[in-house]
Amino acid sequence: MKPNVFIDRNVSSEVEAYLAQYCTVDKWEESSPIPREILLKKLENAEGLLTAGTQVDAELIENAPRLKAVSSISVGYNHFDLDAMRENGIIGTHTPHVLDDTVADLALALMLGTARRVAELDRYVKEGQWKAGIGNTWFGQDVHHAKLGIIGMGRIGEAVARRARFGFDMDVAYFNRSRKPEAEAQLGVRYLSLNDLLAESDFIVMLAPLTTETNKLIGQEQFKLMKPTAIFINVSRGQTIDEAALIEALQAGTITAAGLDVFEQEPIPENHPFLTMNNVLTLPHIGSATEATRANMAMLAARNLVHALTGQTPTNTVAELR
Ligand code: DGY
Repeated sequence: MKPNVFIDRNVSSEVEAYLAQYCTVDKWEESSPIPREILLKKLENAEGLLTAGTQVDAELIENAPRLKAVSSISVGYNHFDLDAMRENGIIGTHTPHVLDDTVADLALALMLGTARRVAELDRYVKEGQWKAGIGNTWFGQDVHHAKLGIIGMGRIGEAVARRARFGFDMDVAYFNRSRKPEAEAQLGVRYLSLNDLLAESDFIVMLAPLTTETNKLIGQEQFKLMKPTAIFINVSRGQTIDEAALIEALQAGTITAAGLDVFEQEPIPENHPFLTMNNVLTLPHIGSATEATRANMAMLAARNLVHALTGQTPTNTVAELR
């Protein structure tokens, strides 16, 4: 008998057709997120779940007594309660590699967008303020030849470093749990302590995955170490920084600007201070959101799920559950 699988969001017909070859598929058809109570009901008989950001915790597992595998269409898996999954023998998979270049492109877009004030100046033109040459109050900062500090030197960090070093002649440093001698040799990047990296960099890009060690890794003390001209970019998870401390640093001029794809609460609440701050570029968590990359991620996640449910070892089981 084919295993029952539930898909809790929209995926392409190709992904669904692939899954249907091996599994009995049920899915959430609406474009709005599935309400939690409906999801829990849907999981009563499911052996597999294909998801993205859904919290997979003790409550969900309790409501899904037959659940064997959860496959996430994301590289980050901070929505997995790893202890609860381990205790219940549930396989968890994610989609690394296929999104590295796409997320790296977005980090560069945020660096360029904040440094050259692209969103602000777009508004300036569209609001009819462009009557003569712009005054120096609208000047931005150079990205080329500036100093970049990358926090979290995984595959995406290396892809950002490659672009920065060879595309923009930047001086690239990184901070990571462990040194990366190969990346240092191939990309000409320097290892620095976190504090030195914060103090030296013109651009700081946060790429560390969200874990108990990286939760609020960058707070008031760390923002104070940065240059007043520094631009802070976050394409990791909102919780890796203390958002209140970032707001304060931007308002006080402790740093110059921020480019953010991720937030403590997503979608960002309507009255959030970032929404009225001109020196903050805000994006709706689109790091991997290109047609091609999201299609590749969804198909990879579907394959991971089929492997997990048909007795094969999925290539992309998350490290902590291997
Ligand atoms: C992921 O896959 O975890 C990224 O946040 C997508 O943008």
